[in-house]
Amino acid sequence: MILIIAGARPNFMKIAPIVWEFERRSFADYKIVHTGQHYDYEMSQAFFEDLSLGEPDFFLNVGSGTHTYQTASVMIALEEICTELNPHLIIVVGDVNSTLASSLVASKQRIPLAHVEAGLRSFDMAMPEEVNRILTDHVSDFLLVSEQSGIDNLKREGIPDDRVHFVGNIMIDSLNRILPKAHKEKPTAGEYIAATIHRPSNVDDAASLSKIIDLLSDAAKHHPVVMPAHPRTKKNLILFGLEKHFLQEPRFPESPEPGNIYLVPPIGYVGFVGMMAGAHYVITDSGGIQEETTFLGIPCVTLRENTERPATVEIGTNTVVGTDKAAFGETIKNIREGTYKTGGRPPLWDGKTSERVCDILLSAYSP
Ligand code: UD1
Repeated sequence: MILIIAGARPNFMKIAPIVWEFERRSFADYKIVHTGQHYDYEMSQAFFEDLSLGEPDFFLNVGSGTHTYQTASVMIALEEICTELNPHLIIVVGDVNSTLASSLVASKQRIPLAHVEAGLRSFDMAMPEEVNRILTDHVSDFLLVSEQSGIDNLKREGIPDDRVHFVGNIMIDSLNRILPKAHKEKPTAGEYIAATIHRPSNVDDAASLSKIIDLLSDAAKHHPVVMPAHPRTKKNLILFGLEKHFLQEPRFPESPEPGNIYLVPPIGYVGFVGMMAGAHYVITDSGGIQEETTFLGIPCVTLRENTERPATVEIGTNTVVGTDKAAFGETIKNIREGTYKTGGRPPLWDGKTSERVCDILLSAYSP
């Protein structure tokens, strides 16, 4: 019996390929647990539908709250399920609070734990995800790594080699699978920039959020910017009275014009991949989008001081500029003028990561 845990938007496209691969191998002894960290239709169910995931077997309904509340609520609810089912293995993905909470339950109940996307490090302990990543890795039995930096980081932290497996990037399996559908949903509205901003460090105070809006405005002078709003970002734009910088639209605008930043509701997985694939370039502070743009060959400008995914910078199409106006300006000028790097795909980002993950996990448990 294997439990697969997902809680937040960036988890769903990472568990789906494992589920598909289990099904392909006619391995039926697994259950999906959705913690309910994300619960809005666009943040959760839309992804289950786009990824043909069916209903989760368990929904823990923990919802929003402080990090402590969220983490503790997942732990208490998941412990009950583990006590009832006595699983042989728990699989967690990514770095959200639900990932850490489930890892702690596995560790306390002495249930073997597999972490998909292990080893990534931003070296910034102010990021809640960095704490989640480090703690999860240090209680994991199977550390399934997406890029070379992950191997190096885990070695440096003293994790025994035999727990670490280089399997590639599982998210690319999902991306590959839905890409034909996503291409059909590509906006045909001419050149635009796709933007997503939601990190607490960028949106939780008025000064930081104003700085971001200033950069988006610089970019919008040349191409229209379309930004699907994460609930946290939307809430803070209203709170700080900064909505006036945006034109609000119920969906992707039909004929977006330079000079404008359009705010649209969150978009499902297929629709958003289509939006990235059709964009001139992407501005983001997300983790996964840095990787998806690298795979798609679309330039990505990351508004963070660091990245836990250095392969996207060293091999791919990503540039990390922080919120430095000059660095941002220089980067987008290069993109506009066609002098920006083209980028390649990191090793094992080949759509077959879930096969390697299942080979490792299922063989560990076959008699
Ligand atoms: C979480 C992850 C982050 C990931 C992001 C992707 C952690 C620590 N952070 O951050 O790594 O990049 O998901 O989206 O786990 N809200 C809604 N509806 C929802 C979900 C959230 O309105 O369906 C609102 C609530 O007001 C909530 C806020 O968004 O308080 C933040 O949600 P939360 O899950 O706490 O963190 P994220 O910022 O989404």
